[in-house]
Amino acid sequence: MTAFSTVDTTPFAGQKPGTSGLRATTRTFMQPRYLENFVQATFDAVGGLSGKTLVLGGDGRFFGAEAAATILRMAAANGAARVIVGRGALLSTPAASNLIRSRGADGGIILSASHNPGGEDGDFGVKYNGANGGPAPEAVTAEIHARTEALDAYRIADADAPDLDAPGEHALGDMIVEVVDPVVDYLALMKTLFDFDAIRAHFASGFTMRFDGMHAITGPYATAVLAELGAGPDTVMNAVPLPDFGGGHPDPNPTWARPLYDEMMGGNAPDFAAASDGDGDRNMILGRGVYVSPSDSLAVLAANAHLAPGYAGGLKGVARSMPTSRAADRVAAKLGVEAFETPTGWKYFGTLLDAGRATLCGEESFGTGSDHVREKDGLWAVLLWLNILAVRRQSVAEIMADHWKTYGRDYYTRHDYEAVDKTAAEALMDDLRGRLAGLPGQSVGGYTVETADDFAYTDPIDGAKAAKQGVRIGFQGGARAVFRLSGTGTQGATLRLYLERFEDDPARLALDPAQVLRPVAEAADALAGIRERLGRDAPDVTT
Ligand code: G6P
Ligand code: ZN
Repeated sequence: MTAFSTVDTTPFAGQKPGTSGLRATTRTFMQPRYLENFVQATFDAVGGLSGKTLVLGGDGRFFGAEAAATILRMAAANGAARVIVGRGALLSTPAASNLIRSRGADGGIILSASHNPGGEDGDFGVKYNGANGGPAPEAVTAEIHARTEALDAYRIADADAPDLDAPGEHALGDMIVEVVDPVVDYLALMKTLFDFDAIRAHFASGFTMRFDGMHAITGPYATAVLAELGAGPDTVMNAVPLPDFGGGHPDPNPTWARPLYDEMMGGNAPDFAAASDGDGDRNMILGRGVYVSPSDSLAVLAANAHLAPGYAGGLKGVARSMPTSRAADRVAAKLGVEAFETPTGWKYFGTLLDAGRATLCGEESFGTGSDHVREKDGLWAVLLWLNILAVRRQSVAEIMADHWKTYGRDYYTRHDYEAVDKTAAEALMDDLRGRLAGLPGQSVGGYTVETADDFAYTDPIDGAKAAKQGVRIGFQGGARAVFRLSGTGTQGATLRLYLERFEDDPARLALDPAQVLRPVAEAADALAGIRERLGRDAPDVTT
C-alpha cells in the first residue's frame, strides 16, 4: 500500500506561465517546493486529476528526469489513473502532443524550456497541454497562476517513481505508469502524411542533406526518420541529446546554428539542410546558398502542401502570428482559403485547428505546423519540405525564386535586444503606445508613418480577447516595423523588432535582406529610441 503525504507549502511569487508555460532558471526550479507548487497548482486548475490519464515527457535537459519522477509521485497522490511517459522521460513537444491525442489522454505535461540553454546554469520549464494536445489556453494558464498564489499544500506519494528506462507498465500506488518508446507513434504519424517512397527515391538519386539535432531531443527522431528514408549515415549531426545540449544554445537560427548555416553558404554544401530546437518544435530550413526565412517557409509550404499525400485535398486555411510576414496571406488569397493573424504563441492556433478553420500555421520564430498535432513540429516541416523537393525535383533556390516571382517577396528580418533592463524596455513600449494616435502622417528617418496600432485579437472561434500584443507601424510604400517584448525570456526583458518590406519588382527579388531593411530599422530606431533607451549599439541576435 503506497502512502501519500500532504505537504504544507507557501506560494512563490512569479509563477506565471508566459508565451509557452512557466520558464525559469534551472536553479529556481530546483529550489525545494518550487516545482511541486507549480505542478499542484496546475492539477488544481484543471479540476484535479481523479481518474485521469496524462502524458509526460520532455526534451532531456538537466533536471528533467528528477522533475518527471516528482510529477509522477504527485500525479499518483492526486488520483490520476495512468501516466504515459516517454522512455527516459523523453518526448519531443510534437510527439507529446500526438500522444495526448492518439491515446485520448486528458492532458499532458512537457518538461522543457524549448530553445533556451539547459544545464544547471541554464533554464528549465514546465508546460501543461490540454486534451486537444495543445498548450493550455490563456484562461487555464491564468487559473494556474491564480492557484500558485493561494496554494498552501501539495500532495505526493511517499514511494519512489518507477525506473523510466524500463518500457512497459509499472504501478505507483493505484496509478499505472506506462513507459513508451518516444519515437514509434510519431514516426507512424509522419508516414500517414508524407510520401516516404518518393523521398526515398530522391535520396537514392543522389540528393544530399544535413540535419543538425543541436544535441537536443530531435536527434533520435531525425535519426530514425532519415534512416527510413535512406539518407546517408552522416546526415544527422549533433544527434545525441545531452542534458546541457553540449553547452550550446539549441535554437535553430543563423546565429545559434552557425556551423550548419556556414556549411550551406560554403562551397561543399549538400542540397538541403535543417535544424531543430531543444524540444523539437522549431525548424530552420536552408538550401545550398539559401536561407529560407520562417515567414517564407510557411508561404512556400502553404503553396505546395498539396504535393504531400496528407494535404492532397487542399488546405482549409492558413494562420500566422502577427509579427510573421504577410507572405502566407497572399498564398491563402490565391488558394481562396481563409488567412488568420493571431497573437504570438502557438496556443492561439488551437481553436482554429480544432474548429477545422486552419490546416497550416506558422510563426516567424521558426515554428511551422499543421492540424496533425496541436504544437508546432520541426521534423514535420522538414519532411514536408523533403516531400515537396522530391516531387518538384528543383533546388531550394529555384523553388524560392519561383515563389517570389509568383507572389512577390517580403524581405524580412528580426532584431532581438536580449536581457535588457526591464524597466527601460517597458518604458520604451509604454512611450510608443502613448504616441500611437499621433504617429500617422509623421515622417521618421525618411519614412512616413501610415498606420500605427497596438495589436489586439478576438479569437474568431471562442471570442477570447488578447490586448497589447505588439505595436505595429505601417510605413508608406509597404514597409512595416513591429515592436514586442518577448514572453519567453528568463532574464530582464528582450525587445523584438520585426522588420519587413514587400517587393514585387522582378528585378529586385534577389537582394540582401539586411541591406533592403536597413532604412526600415533606422526609421524604427528613430521612432522608438532603441539604442538610446536600451544602451545597446546593435541587436544581440538577428534572424
Ligand atoms: C515559443 C512559442 C512560440 C513563440 C515563441 C517566441 O516558441 O511556442 O509560439 O512564437 O516562443 O515567443 P516570444 O514571446 O519569446 O517572442
Ligand atoms: Zn521549442
